[in-house]
Amino acid sequence: MTEVLVVIGVGGMGEAIARRLGTGRQVVLADFDEKALRRVAEMLTEEGYQVRSQSVDVSRRDSVAALAEQAAALGPVTAVAHTAGLSPAQASTAAILAVDLAGVAFFLDEFEKVIAPGGAGVVIASMAGSLTAGYLPDEAEAALASTPSDDLLELPLLTASDLAQPGAAYAVAKRANQIRVQVASMAWGARGARVNSISPGVISTAMGRQELANESGAGMRAMVAASGTKRLGTAADIAAAAAFLLGPDATFVTGTDLLVDGGAVAAARRGGL
Ligand SMILES: NC(=O)c1ccc[n+]([C@@H]2O[C@H](COP(=O)([O-])OP(=O)(O)OC[C@H]3O[C@@H](n4cnc5c(N)ncnc54)[C@H](O)[C@@H]3O)[C@@H](O)[C@H]2O)c1
Repeated sequence: MTEVLVVIGVGGMGEAIARRLGTGRQVVLADFDEKALRRVAEMLTEEGYQVRSQSVDVSRRDSVAALAEQAAALGPVTAVAHTAGLSPAQASTAAILAVDLAGVAFFLDEFEKVIAPGGAGVVIASMAGSLTAGYLPDEAEAALASTPSDDLLELPLLTASDLAQPGAAYAVAKRANQIRVQVASMAWGARGARVNSISPGVISTAMGRQELANESGAGMRAMVAASGTKRLGTAADIAAAAAFLLGPDATFVTGTDLLVDGGAVAAARRGGL
Protein backbone atom coordinates (compact mmCIF):
# COMPACT_ATOMS: atom_id res chain seq x y z
CA MET A 1 0.00 0.00 0.00
CA THR A 2 1.29 3.47 -0.85
CA GLU A 3 2.71 5.32 2.14
CA VAL A 4 0.89 8.47 3.20
CA LEU A 5 2.50 11.86 3.81
CA VAL A 6 0.27 14.35 5.63
CA VAL A 7 1.11 18.05 5.41
CA ILE A 8 -0.98 20.30 7.63
CA GLY A 9 -0.80 23.94 6.55
CA VAL A 10 -0.14 24.61 2.87
CA GLY A 11 1.64 27.93 3.26
CA GLY A 12 5.24 28.45 2.23
CA MET A 13 6.76 25.71 4.37
CA GLY A 14 3.95 23.19 3.88
CA GLU A 15 4.13 23.49 0.11
CA ALA A 16 7.94 23.09 0.13
CA ILE A 17 7.76 20.03 2.40
CA ALA A 18 5.05 18.41 0.25
CA ARG A 19 7.13 18.98 -2.88
CA ARG A 20 10.34 17.71 -1.29
CA LEU A 21 8.88 14.58 0.35
CA GLY A 22 5.75 13.79 -1.65
CA THR A 23 7.22 11.84 -4.57
CA GLY A 24 6.00 8.23 -4.56
CA ARG A 25 3.66 8.87 -1.63
CA GLN A 26 -0.02 9.57 -1.27
CA VAL A 27 0.10 13.21 -0.19
CA VAL A 28 -2.68 14.54 2.04
CA LEU A 29 -2.76 18.34 2.17
CA ALA A 30 -4.80 20.06 4.89
CA ASP A 31 -5.52 23.71 5.69
CA PHE A 32 -8.44 25.87 6.78
CA ASP A 33 -7.92 28.22 3.86
CA GLU A 34 -9.91 26.45 1.13
CA LYS A 35 -8.58 28.69 -1.63
CA ALA A 36 -4.94 28.07 -0.70
CA LEU A 37 -5.65 24.36 -0.35
CA ARG A 38 -7.16 24.19 -3.84
CA ARG A 39 -4.32 26.21 -5.38
CA VAL A 40 -1.52 24.08 -3.89
CA ALA A 41 -3.35 20.78 -4.52
CA GLU A 42 -3.92 21.70 -8.18
CA MET A 43 -0.33 22.82 -8.65
CA LEU A 44 1.19 19.67 -7.13
CA THR A 45 -1.24 17.40 -8.97
CA GLU A 46 -0.21 19.07 -12.23
CA GLU A 47 3.42 18.41 -11.28
CA GLY A 48 2.65 14.68 -11.00
CA TYR A 49 2.14 14.29 -7.26
CA GLN A 50 -0.67 12.07 -5.98
CA VAL A 51 -2.67 14.52 -3.89
CA ARG A 52 -5.79 14.53 -1.73
CA SER A 53 -6.90 17.63 0.10
CA GLN A 54 -8.84 17.94 3.29
CA SER A 55 -10.13 21.00 5.10
CA VAL A 56 -8.98 21.18 8.72
CA ASP A 57 -9.09 23.69 11.54
CA VAL A 58 -6.22 22.69 13.83
CA SER A 59 -7.68 24.66 16.74
CA ARG A 60 -10.52 22.05 16.93
CA ARG A 61 -9.66 18.60 18.21
CA ASP A 62 -12.55 16.94 16.31
CA SER A 63 -11.31 18.42 13.06
CA VAL A 64 -7.75 17.18 13.63
CA ALA A 65 -9.06 13.74 14.67
CA ALA A 66 -11.13 13.52 11.47
CA LEU A 67 -8.09 14.40 9.37
CA ALA A 68 -5.98 11.75 11.11
CA GLU A 69 -8.65 9.10 10.53
CA GLN A 70 -9.12 10.02 6.88
CA ALA A 71 -5.37 9.95 6.25
CA ALA A 72 -4.99 6.56 7.94
CA ALA A 73 -7.80 5.13 5.79
CA LEU A 74 -5.66 5.84 2.69
CA GLY A 75 -2.65 3.79 3.84
CA PRO A 76 0.13 3.74 6.42
CA VAL A 77 0.82 7.27 7.65
CA THR A 78 4.61 7.21 7.69
CA ALA A 79 5.34 10.95 7.62
CA VAL A 80 3.45 13.96 8.88
CA ALA A 81 4.43 17.61 9.00
CA HIS A 82 2.44 20.12 11.03
CA THR A 83 3.13 23.58 9.57
CA ALA A 84 -0.19 25.36 10.22
CA GLY A 85 0.18 28.51 12.26
CA LEU A 86 -0.65 32.16 12.82
CA SER A 87 1.90 34.89 13.51
CA PRO A 88 1.70 38.02 15.66
CA ALA A 89 1.19 40.27 12.62
CA GLN A 90 -1.75 38.12 11.52
CA ALA A 91 -3.77 37.38 14.63
CA SER A 92 -4.86 38.19 18.18
CA THR A 93 -3.44 36.58 21.32
CA ALA A 94 -6.51 34.34 21.61
CA ALA A 95 -6.25 33.09 18.04
CA ILE A 96 -2.50 32.50 18.35
CA LEU A 97 -2.94 30.44 21.51
CA ALA A 98 -5.81 28.44 19.97
CA VAL A 99 -3.96 27.63 16.74
CA ASP A 100 -0.25 27.66 17.60
CA LEU A 101 -0.48 26.18 21.10
CA ALA A 102 -3.65 24.08 21.44
CA GLY A 103 -3.54 23.14 17.74
CA VAL A 104 -0.13 21.53 18.08
CA ALA A 105 -1.20 19.71 21.25
CA PHE A 106 -4.26 18.28 19.42
CA PHE A 107 -2.06 17.28 16.50
CA LEU A 108 0.36 15.39 18.78
CA ASP A 109 -2.53 13.57 20.52
CA GLU A 110 -4.50 12.66 17.41
CA PHE A 111 -1.66 11.68 15.08
CA GLU A 112 -0.08 9.58 17.82
CA LYS A 113 -3.14 7.32 17.33
CA VAL A 114 -2.53 6.76 13.60
CA ILE A 115 1.21 7.16 12.96
CA ALA A 116 2.62 3.95 11.47
CA PRO A 117 5.40 2.02 13.22
CA GLY A 118 8.66 3.38 11.82
CA GLY A 119 6.90 6.62 10.93
CA ALA A 120 7.78 10.13 12.04
CA GLY A 121 6.26 13.52 12.64
CA VAL A 122 7.59 17.04 12.64
CA VAL A 123 6.07 20.17 14.17
CA ILE A 124 7.14 23.63 13.04
CA ALA A 125 7.81 25.67 16.18
CA SER A 126 9.95 28.85 15.94
CA MET A 127 13.17 30.47 17.05
CA ALA A 128 10.83 32.61 19.16
CA GLY A 129 10.38 29.46 21.27
CA SER A 130 14.14 28.90 21.42
CA LEU A 131 14.64 32.48 22.58
CA THR A 132 12.00 31.92 25.28
CA ALA A 133 13.71 28.77 26.61
CA GLY A 134 15.32 29.50 29.95
CA TYR A 135 13.12 32.54 30.61
CA LEU A 136 9.87 30.87 31.66
CA PRO A 137 9.66 29.80 35.31
CA ASP A 138 10.10 26.04 35.86
CA GLU A 139 6.47 25.75 37.04
CA ALA A 140 5.25 27.31 33.80
CA GLU A 141 7.27 24.85 31.70
CA ALA A 142 5.99 21.97 33.83
CA ALA A 143 2.39 23.12 33.36
CA LEU A 144 2.85 23.47 29.59
CA ALA A 145 4.32 19.95 29.54
CA SER A 146 1.72 18.12 31.61
CA THR A 147 -1.65 19.88 31.21
CA PRO A 148 -4.13 17.84 29.13
CA SER A 149 -4.52 19.40 25.68
CA ASP A 150 -8.20 20.23 26.20
CA ASP A 151 -7.36 22.25 29.34
CA LEU A 152 -4.30 24.09 28.05
CA LEU A 153 -6.05 27.35 27.17
CA GLU A 154 -7.39 27.61 30.73
CA LEU A 155 -3.89 27.76 32.24
CA PRO A 156 -3.57 30.95 34.34
CA LEU A 157 -0.15 31.65 32.81
CA LEU A 158 -1.83 31.98 29.39
CA THR A 159 -4.47 34.42 30.59
CA ALA A 160 -1.89 36.68 32.27
CA SER A 161 -1.85 40.30 31.13
CA ASP A 162 1.77 40.01 29.99
CA LEU A 163 0.52 37.79 27.15
CA ALA A 164 -1.83 40.52 25.92
CA GLN A 165 0.65 41.28 23.11
CA PRO A 166 0.35 38.69 20.32
CA GLY A 167 4.16 38.53 20.10
CA ALA A 168 4.41 37.35 23.71
CA ALA A 169 1.66 34.77 23.17
CA TYR A 170 3.44 33.52 20.04
CA ALA A 171 6.74 33.09 21.92
CA VAL A 172 5.11 31.08 24.71
CA ALA A 173 3.09 28.99 22.23
CA LYS A 174 6.22 28.13 20.28
CA ARG A 175 8.16 27.25 23.43
CA ALA A 176 5.19 25.06 24.39
CA ASN A 177 5.47 23.30 21.00
CA GLN A 178 9.07 22.32 21.75
CA ILE A 179 8.09 21.06 25.22
CA ARG A 180 4.98 19.13 24.06
CA VAL A 181 7.06 17.41 21.35
CA GLN A 182 9.54 16.25 24.01
CA VAL A 183 6.69 14.79 26.05
CA ALA A 184 4.94 13.25 23.02
CA SER A 185 8.11 11.47 21.90
CA MET A 186 7.49 8.82 24.55
CA ALA A 187 3.93 7.97 23.48
CA TRP A 188 4.94 8.11 19.80
CA GLY A 189 7.92 5.90 20.68
CA ALA A 190 5.60 3.33 22.23
CA ARG A 191 4.14 2.94 18.71
CA GLY A 192 7.63 2.68 17.17
CA ALA A 193 7.41 6.22 15.78
CA ARG A 194 9.36 9.44 16.30
CA VAL A 195 8.41 13.09 16.61
CA ASN A 196 10.55 16.25 16.60
CA SER A 197 10.18 19.97 16.13
CA ILE A 198 11.95 22.42 13.85
CA SER A 199 12.44 25.99 14.99
CA PRO A 200 12.88 28.20 11.93
CA GLY A 201 14.46 31.63 11.97
CA VAL A 202 13.21 34.32 9.61
CA ILE A 203 11.94 32.49 6.52
CA SER A 204 10.79 34.35 3.43
CA THR A 205 7.27 32.91 3.19
CA ALA A 206 4.08 34.99 3.11
CA MET A 207 4.09 34.91 6.91
CA GLY A 208 7.77 35.83 7.21
CA ARG A 209 7.38 38.75 4.81
CA GLN A 210 4.33 40.01 6.70
CA GLU A 211 6.31 39.95 9.96
CA LEU A 212 9.26 41.74 8.32
CA ALA A 213 6.91 44.49 7.13
CA ASN A 214 5.42 44.82 10.62
CA GLU A 215 6.72 46.70 13.68
CA SER A 216 8.85 43.69 14.73
CA GLY A 217 10.57 43.72 11.32
CA ALA A 218 13.49 45.95 12.35
CA GLY A 219 14.45 43.63 15.22
CA MET A 220 14.22 40.60 12.94
CA ARG A 221 16.40 42.26 10.31
CA ALA A 222 18.97 43.13 12.99
CA MET A 223 19.12 39.48 14.05
CA VAL A 224 19.57 38.36 10.45
CA ALA A 225 22.29 40.97 9.85
CA ALA A 226 24.18 39.85 12.96
CA SER A 227 23.78 36.12 12.20
CA GLY A 228 26.43 33.81 10.82
CA THR A 229 24.65 33.43 7.48
CA LYS A 230 23.37 37.02 7.14
CA ARG A 231 20.46 35.91 5.01
CA LEU A 232 16.79 35.12 5.22
CA GLY A 233 15.88 31.45 5.18
CA THR A 234 13.91 29.84 2.37
CA ALA A 235 11.05 27.39 2.68
CA ALA A 236 13.43 24.90 1.02
CA ASP A 237 15.84 25.27 3.99
CA ILE A 238 13.02 24.08 6.25
CA ALA A 239 11.97 21.30 3.88
CA ALA A 240 15.56 20.00 3.94
CA ALA A 241 15.49 19.84 7.74
CA ALA A 242 12.09 18.11 7.63
CA ALA A 243 13.45 15.59 5.12
CA PHE A 244 16.25 14.74 7.55
CA LEU A 245 13.98 14.43 10.59
CA LEU A 246 11.31 12.43 8.73
CA GLY A 247 13.82 10.24 6.92
CA PRO A 248 16.06 7.22 7.50
CA ASP A 249 19.09 9.23 8.69
CA ALA A 250 17.25 10.35 11.81
CA THR A 251 16.07 7.05 13.29
CA PHE A 252 17.90 7.87 16.55
CA VAL A 253 16.50 11.39 16.73
CA THR A 254 13.26 11.97 18.61
CA GLY A 255 11.85 14.37 21.18
CA THR A 256 14.19 17.15 20.18
CA ASP A 257 14.17 20.51 18.45
CA LEU A 258 16.25 21.41 15.43
CA LEU A 259 16.98 25.13 15.24
CA VAL A 260 17.19 26.15 11.57
CA ASP A 261 17.72 29.88 11.86
CA GLY A 262 20.89 30.77 9.96
CA GLY A 263 22.56 31.52 13.27
CA ALA A 264 20.12 34.22 14.42
CA VAL A 265 19.64 32.84 17.94
CA ALA A 266 23.39 32.41 18.37
CA ALA A 267 23.83 36.07 17.40
CA ALA A 268 21.08 37.18 19.78
CA ARG A 269 22.45 35.14 22.68
CA ARG A 270 26.19 35.50 22.13
CA GLY A 271 26.62 38.39 19.74
CA GLY A 272 25.62 41.18 22.07
CA LEU A 273 22.40 42.12 20.27
N1 LIG B 1 7.91 32.31 8.11
C1 LIG B 1 8.66 32.50 9.18
O1 LIG B 1 9.53 33.37 9.22
C2 LIG B 1 8.50 31.58 10.38
C3 LIG B 1 9.49 31.63 11.37
C4 LIG B 1 9.37 30.79 12.44
C5 LIG B 1 8.30 29.93 12.55
N2 LIG B 1 7.34 29.91 11.58
C6 LIG B 1 6.25 28.96 11.73
O2 LIG B 1 6.26 28.08 10.63
C7 LIG B 1 4.95 27.56 10.37
C8 LIG B 1 4.66 27.70 8.89
O3 LIG B 1 4.71 29.04 8.54
P1 LIG B 1 4.78 29.58 7.04
O4 LIG B 1 5.88 30.56 7.02
O5 LIG B 1 4.73 28.46 6.08
O6 LIG B 1 3.42 30.41 7.07
P2 LIG B 1 2.25 30.58 6.01
O7 LIG B 1 1.42 31.72 6.51
O8 LIG B 1 2.81 30.64 4.63
O9 LIG B 1 1.44 29.21 6.20
C9 LIG B 1 0.70 28.90 7.34
C10 LIG B 1 -0.52 28.12 6.91
O10 LIG B 1 -1.25 27.73 8.08
C11 LIG B 1 -2.63 27.80 7.78
N3 LIG B 1 -3.43 27.90 8.99
C12 LIG B 1 -3.49 28.93 9.86
N4 LIG B 1 -4.38 28.66 10.85
C13 LIG B 1 -4.89 27.42 10.58
C14 LIG B 1 -5.86 26.60 11.23
N5 LIG B 1 -6.50 26.99 12.33
N6 LIG B 1 -6.11 25.38 10.69
C15 LIG B 1 -5.49 24.98 9.56
N7 LIG B 1 -4.58 25.73 8.89
C16 LIG B 1 -4.29 26.94 9.40
C17 LIG B 1 -2.76 29.05 6.90
O11 LIG B 1 -3.95 29.04 6.15
C18 LIG B 1 -1.49 28.93 6.05
O12 LIG B 1 -1.76 28.25 4.83
C19 LIG B 1 4.03 28.34 11.31
O13 LIG B 1 3.75 27.57 12.44
C20 LIG B 1 4.87 29.53 11.72
O14 LIG B 1 4.49 30.03 12.98
C21 LIG B 1 7.41 30.72 10.51
